[in-house]
Amino acid sequence: MKLIVKDNTADLGKEAGRQAAQIIRAAIKNNGFANIILATGTSQFEVLKQLTQEDVDWKQVTMFHLDEYIGLPESSPASFRKYLKERFIQKAEGLKQIHLINGENNPAKECLRLNEIIRDIRIDVALLGIGENGHLGFNDPPADFETEEAFIVVNLDEKCRRQQLGEGWFRQIDDVPRQAITMSVKQIMKSKQIICSVPDSRKAQAVKDCFENPVSNWFPGSILQEHPHCICFLDKLSSALLEKNLHDQL
Ligand code: GLP
Repeated sequence: MKLIVKDNTADLGKEAGRQAAQIIRAAIKNNGFANIILATGTSQFEVLKQLTQEDVDWKQVTMFHLDEYIGLPESSPASFRKYLKERFIQKAEGLKQIHLINGENNPAKECLRLNEIIRDIRIDVALLGIGENGHLGFNDPPADFETEEAFIVVNLDEKCRRQQLGEGWFRQIDDVPRQAITMSVKQIMKSKQIICSVPDSRKAQAVKDCFENPVSNWFPGSILQEHPHCICFLDKLSSALLEKNLHDQL
């Protein structure tokens, strides 16, 4: 894993979006198509903005969705299906295939449906973020590092739910769902390349916990240390607690 520190969120998003586009273009050139995983959340705003401005033949790209709340309708402002439709799908016109997680379906059946779809798919790049509690997708601590299932039902912890409230997606804590469907840690780690984007001072402690400690499911994002082709983009604020100065090493 490589850590890169950019000056601010905008620069971070631009670089992450450009890198992702390069990987997608290379996959299309080599294989004729590309398979990608997209996270949501505030950390992806600038990344997706840049990615959708890039010159990519979206007709050759299949998109998988990282995580979604259980029981939340798409009409909710916090729906990640709504987020991806507005911030990516409508802009990356003509995508080859789109595999959204429908959190309103029976959760166990929805996981089985998605597991079947992704079983033989090789993912070229996953765009990820890390939560304030260090979560990867919605794999809150202590995350299940062992399950072989691609998509799983998880309970959301208090810190995770508070983050969603703090970011303004919900009006009150009781509105934040208690469960979600998320891609599992093992499935995420199968991606050939990973671009992780972690801006903001809110993430400084999680960044330190995940990248300066040994790998532990109490800091789920720490597993990225073991990925052979992962770049994690930080900004000055999110990297503030790190011991080493890692500014702009790309
Ligand atoms: C969010 C999303 C994930 C995201 C992570 C970090 O809540 N469920 O897809 O990668 O948790 O979120 P954020 O970017 O809002 O910090």
